[in-house]
Amino acid sequence: MPETLYDKLMKLFLNRGFFFPSCEIYSDAPAGFWEYGKLGVLLRNRFVETWRRELVRRDDMIEIDGSQIMAKQVFVASGHLESFADPVSRCQRCGALHRIDRLIEEKAKIRVPERLRDEEIEALLRKYNVKCPTCGGALGPVGRFNMMFQVRVGGAGEEAYLRPETCQSIFVDFHRIYMTMGLKLPFAVCQFGKSFRNEISPRQSLMRLREFYQAEIEVFFNPKKANDYEKVKTVADYKLRLMPRDQEVTEMTCREAVESGIISNYLSAYYLALIQQFYEKVGLDKKRLRLRQLGDDEKAFYAIEAWDVEAETSLGWIELVACNYRGDYDLSGHMRVSGKDLTVLDDGEKIIPHIFELSMGVDRSIYTVIEHNYLETQNRRVLKLPYFLAPIQVAVFPLVSKDGLPEKAIKIYEMIKLDFDAVFDDKGDIGKRYRKMDEVGTPVCITVDYQTLEDDTVTIRDRDTMAQRRVHISELKETLSNILSISHSHGV
Ligand code: GLY
Repeated sequence: MPETLYDKLMKLFLNRGFFFPSCEIYSDAPAGFWEYGKLGVLLRNRFVETWRRELVRRDDMIEIDGSQIMAKQVFVASGHLESFADPVSRCQRCGALHRIDRLIEEKAKIRVPERLRDEEIEALLRKYNVKCPTCGGALGPVGRFNMMFQVRVGGAGEEAYLRPETCQSIFVDFHRIYMTMGLKLPFAVCQFGKSFRNEISPRQSLMRLREFYQAEIEVFFNPKKANDYEKVKTVADYKLRLMPRDQEVTEMTCREAVESGIISNYLSAYYLALIQQFYEKVGLDKKRLRLRQLGDDEKAFYAIEAWDVEAETSLGWIELVACNYRGDYDLSGHMRVSGKDLTVLDDGEKIIPHIFELSMGVDRSIYTVIEHNYLETQNRRVLKLPYFLAPIQVAVFPLVSKDGLPEKAIKIYEMIKLDFDAVFDDKGDIGKRYRKMDEVGTPVCITVDYQTLEDDTVTIRDRDTMAQRRVHISELKETLSNILSISHSHGV
């Protein structure tokens, strides 16, 4: 089989230490757990900082950081204990348990909607004669497998769960956040952090993990005013790449989408615009990005209306963000089970706020950003990330490893390393060192040569054009800041 783009990127990730499997020195390492190495951490940090800049600060959101282990009652109220379960079937010969909707999808090349009943899934299983992929044996009846990880807390072994979505912290903290922050509807609370799902078939490295990063935004609003809030009209003329149910992708302004009833309200359209703009900013190819409306049989159990931000990759179309209109499902549920009053006063009226959420899968978004920006030509491989996202921002090289050039280059490296993520490298041919940096997306390479010893200037090389220019050492920090700034759109 020819090497796919995904295979090439996996090699890059493993060889250069972006990401790698967890516990890989042990044979019992479970699948679906991956580590971020140095370059992965730097890239993730910059990706999350961009999310903070373009969404959190732009929209004056409140960011929190909640616990990953949460009480059982939370998930009674949220419905996850009852409903957060995947359809499964066990092989009657080898005993392996399989996520049966995925197997049917692969074999029959059809889509099996999320909300299909077990009997309907079983009918498809028999119709397409799906067998155990491990041993070819017959598959048994379709049942359900709850995807939450249960944990036991303290000496008494209290039953608790690792959160399957970060937003539950936001819902259970809602009252305190509302009271302490002096908020008025509409407002958004957000969180970046880990979630956990006991996937039956984790696969494709960062794409389907059991422990993964989410960046979730929960917007609380009065449903009667969803079209009236001042800020939501600021994006009225912005064009969304919408794929309404059973239709092709069409570019449509927020105004057209709301007025034609394709999106149910302006507030949702506003946040869909913000998230599409975010993905354009981090370098996704707009032509391979869409907002797909989910059908009733595909939506999560708590969603009234749902749009997925999807991107096309070498693995097919991938869901990056679930944008769910959750109504008052969550706050009502937590009110009922906890007995606490979670209503708020809005213009003298006591209401349970409605929620619109942008639930981002961070790991798969990072993968997609890498894939959309990876370029291979005859001579070089370049990760053309937006400069402000690059994990290593600057590399410092002596032209040759003699005549005092390494010592001078080390001095420059020491001078900049507290302000930038920099590396020093003096090994091997300079051309190879440039190419190593191109492959991981380093925007700027500084080279110290013989002229540097005479006039304290260095060359700086641009990743994309490979053009070089000379800069005086005294101007280096300011030059680098400009090139790497998120507001700067040009190269060296
Ligand atoms: N909070 C929605 C999700 O995790 O998909």
